[in-house]
Amino acid sequence: MSVPESKYLSPVWRDGIFNGRVVFVTGGAGTICSMQTRALVRLGANACIIGRNVEKTEAVAKDIATVRAGAKVIGIGGCDVRKVENLQAAADRCAKELGGIDYVIAGAAGNFIAPIEGLSSNAFKTVMDIDVLGTFNTIKATMPHLLRSSSPRIIYVSATFHYTGMPLQAHVSAAKSAVDSLMASVALEYGPRGVTSNVIAPGGIADTEGLARLGSGADAEQASYAKGIPSGRVGTVRDVADATVFLFSDAGSYINGQQLPVDGAAWRRQGAI
Ligand code: HXC
Repeated sequence: MSVPESKYLSPVWRDGIFNGRVVFVTGGAGTICSMQTRALVRLGANACIIGRNVEKTEAVAKDIATVRAGAKVIGIGGCDVRKVENLQAAADRCAKELGGIDYVIAGAAGNFIAPIEGLSSNAFKTVMDIDVLGTFNTIKATMPHLLRSSSPRIIYVSATFHYTGMPLQAHVSAAKSAVDSLMASVALEYGPRGVTSNVIAPGGIADTEGLARLGSGADAEQASYAKGIPSGRVGTVRDVADATVFLFSDAGSYINGQQLPVDGAAWRRQGAI
């Protein structure tokens, strides 16, 4: 899979701004997080991506490594974020092989569309476990490494559903509220030790499983969905990757404890779209 650079990075960033940095990414084989990682690696970082599927995670890691000569990208499959020991082993391996961890993207998430009456307690718990416990486990496993970095940063990939509540997404809305809350606690608890902790909240992003599942996969559906977005278009993975580059760059060093929706202001009209 060869991805043109213009698909995941705006031409405004400087080469090498992440030289010597290492990013650890859960959910890193997914569409959005793999593009965030690709952008960071293109600008100098090395990366470790974590996923449940071994083959997919290793293949995506190999592909991301092609964006820059000399890039090191490790893919660790078979890692379930619900198991803290899986993450601890992955974080330790990342630090050992790549020399540390400077940035974390907590991107692993579970999602499906279901009405509350179609959600078993176990279904609700499953999403809470992947999103909330998984994020907590990611923080636990990586924090000892982050605290050794001169520029420790965390981004959580959240959502905007919970700003208003969302039908058929009760489980995800509840989970993302908790993720945002964890983000804020980390910002306050670890801000004094140099860590920044921020949420990126993508809206509907073109060509992702999420948008397809929400029923906006087809071109016609996507065009009608886009009309209701104040910025007049559906988001792209590049929009999310650019926001990531900004927050991890030196330009983002004083931004801490914030939620950054990357959604063309869609959430402000949520329910009306
Ligand atoms: C109702 C469902 C369901 C569905 C699963 N369950 N799918 N209930 N409607 N469509 C229930 C099961 O019946 C079971 O409950 C419980 O959830 C656990 O299911 P498992 O399959 O055993 O869980 P698991 O193998 O751990 O898989 C987790 C998963 C799966 C969340 C269900 O979809 C997954 O692995 N997802 C990871 C990838 C993913 O979802 N990425 C999307 C991120 S996109 P019972 O009671 O039967 O035991 C995103 C952006 C937003 O987050 C997109 C908006 C849509």
